[in-house]
Amino acid sequence: MKLNVHFSISHLDELYFTSKTTVVIDVLRASTVIVTAIANGAKEIIPVNTVDFAMKISGNAFSGQTLLCGERNTKKIEGFVLGNSPLEYTSDTVAGKSIILFTTNGSKAFVKAKFSENLFAACFKNLSAVAKHLVELNNDVDIICAGTNGSFNYEDSVCAGRLVQEILSISSSVELSDSSKASIQIAKSSGKSILKMLKETEHGKLLIENGFANDLKDCSQLNVTDVIPFSVSGTIKKLGVSNNQIEADK
Ligand code: MLT
Repeated sequence: MKLNVHFSISHLDELYFTSKTTVVIDVLRASTVIVTAIANGAKEIIPVNTVDFAMKISGNAFSGQTLLCGERNTKKIEGFVLGNSPLEYTSDTVAGKSIILFTTNGSKAFVKAKFSENLFAACFKNLSAVAKHLVELNNDVDIICAGTNGSFNYEDSVCAGRLVQEILSISSSVELSDSSKASIQIAKSSGKSILKMLKETEHGKLLIENGFANDLKDCSQLNVTDVIPFSVSGTIKKLGVSNNQIEADK
């Protein structure tokens, strides 16, 4: 399997993803929110790339069963039920619910990668489970850092590098692109404490400034769940881990 890391998504056309196995990472905070919501029993997440579209599809949804969620400039959008803090996505709030999610970078990355044959969400919380599953699949993998406003960000690149390292530690037949080699160096440069690293990033500092310091703690947790969110036809659900199948709707 060949591993390739994209440090931002802006240069990629959506058709690039056709037939690919893709992992989207947005540590702060969209992919952490998606992993958390699915781990806490959300039925599905529909990522969208505009607020208008989020409002439009939520208008057709059954009231109470669908939650309109997301952020602009890190803050909950007026009229939305939840923002983009993983701490809001408790089982009491999200279990059994469909979530329509708009975020500045992360949800857009999922929409752009929608033609992938396999599309997964990763963050620090499910890193090891994603690595194991990718090794089982044994496909070439494109790891996408959602980045910030189309540009490189440190936290997604560190997470991508840690994912590449984890895959290398369990498989001997891995080929690395130049960018995946670079991601390993970035991960190595980031030190032992994920939380400290997050606090020193540009987006981490903005989140602290805006009152979301506790989100950084949550997003820094490593390997606390085996849940792998998997997207089919634009909807993200929980992967049946051993067989690459979506679990039946409950
Ligand atoms: C994004 O998608 O840009 C982020 O998740 C922003 C945020 O921290 O809410």
